[in-house]
Amino acid sequence: MRFKALLFGLLPAVFLAPAVANAGITATKHDFSGIGGIGQEPTGLCTFCHTPHKAMSTLLLWNHTLSQNVSFSWDVPETTAGTAFPTIPSDTYKGTTTKCLSCHDGSVAIGDIGWWNGGAPLPLTNNPIGDPAFQVGLGGDMSGNHPVAMPIPFNNAPSTYNGVGTGTGITLADWKADPQTLGIRLFTDDGAGNIKAGATAGLTGIECSSCHDPHNGNGVQGPYFLLGELGGSTANYICIKCHTKE
Ligand code: HEC
Ligand code: HEC
Ligand code: HEC
Ligand code: HEC
Repeated sequence: MRFKALLFGLLPAVFLAPAVANAGITATKHDFSGIGGIGQEPTGLCTFCHTPHKAMSTLLLWNHTLSQNVSFSWDVPETTAGTAFPTIPSDTYKGTTTKCLSCHDGSVAIGDIGWWNGGAPLPLTNNPIGDPAFQVGLGGDMSGNHPVAMPIPFNNAPSTYNGVGTGTGITLADWKADPQTLGIRLFTDDGAGNIKAGATAGLTGIECSSCHDPHNGNGVQGPYFLLGELGGSTANYICIKCHTKE
């Protein structure tokens, strides 16, 4: 049985400490460690997202309940280049994006996870992300959000990813050939919807985690777990790691 409730009055004090870019998860907004009850092993740094046994899905050993029956979509059919915006089913899509959205769309309690060995924790209450500043894709509405689960013209050539091909209006010269050399994470869709890390000619796309590392790991260069700098105009500025517009 999965629990749907966790008391967020129990959030550990580390939430109050300012997080340092690239210093790891500890003390960031993704640090959910130390939550537990009497007689219960407290959660570790990983438990809210991954667990070693009885995970909700094998891929990534994912341990947070996915949004239920939500289709994430945009308000327009395609980008200016003519690349179709996808409709992303919350529960069957295999890329990272729906995993982020399982918390960030504000529909599932942050603590809707399995405890160790898939067990139910003590009965506690919990809320979904309620602060609009941290919500993305509320009610499935991705309007105004940068494309994700979409192809990128890796190596300045069209790609197909998540069933979507790069639009014919793309200006191929306006892209960094391989943003991975700048610390961006790219993904390959094998054509059957299986998604793995790394780029493959013609099959490359981007996810939320192309721009953000949820672990606040080594590649993070700015606030918000960004794999680049939030501002400025140097080569590390996040937007020009993929777009050659500088
Ligand atoms: C807030 C959610 C969250 C927490 C907490 C978290 N992870 Fe992750 N983890 C993710 C997501 C999302 C991905 C997929 C990232 C991607 O697409 O590259 C991931 C990917 C991974 C991967 C596979 C890809 C890689 O980066 O090597 C490993 C291994 C991993 N996490 C281990 C851990 C461990 C160990 C912990 C605890 C110390 C942890 N994670 C805590 C969300 C989380
Ligand atoms: C287990 C739930 C959970 C998952 C999964 C999750 N997040 Fe979060 N994330 C949160 C919570 C909770 C906050 C803080 C919200 C608040 O303060 O109101 C947060 C905050 C953030 C922030 C702001 C950080 C800051 O320092 O202000 C970013 C950026 C973020 N998440 C991105 C992601 C991305 C990208 C993914 C997937 C790779 C992801 N999150 C997966 C729960 C989650
Ligand atoms: C193209 C890069 C890029 C992608 C892809 C991306 N983000 Fe972000 N994200 C940013 C930048 C830059 C910021 C900080 C500036 C801002 O908030 O507008 C940010 C901020 C955030 C924040 C902090 C609060 C806020 O809204 O400002 C959250 C949470 C977040 N992103 C979640 C996500 C999730 C979930 C996804 C996938 C659906 C995602 N991001 C995809 C670049 C990206
Ligand atoms: C990880 C690579 C990557 C990063 C980083 C990135 N983008 Fe994008 N961007 C893309 C992809 C892929 C598309 C979709 C291209 C297409 O139309 O096929 C896109 C599309 C766009 C579009 C066109 C949308 C439309 O409707 O035509 C704009 C504008 C844009 N990005 C701005 C930004 C800004 C601003 C940033 C920095 C916050 C940023 N991008 C960071 C990959 C990236």
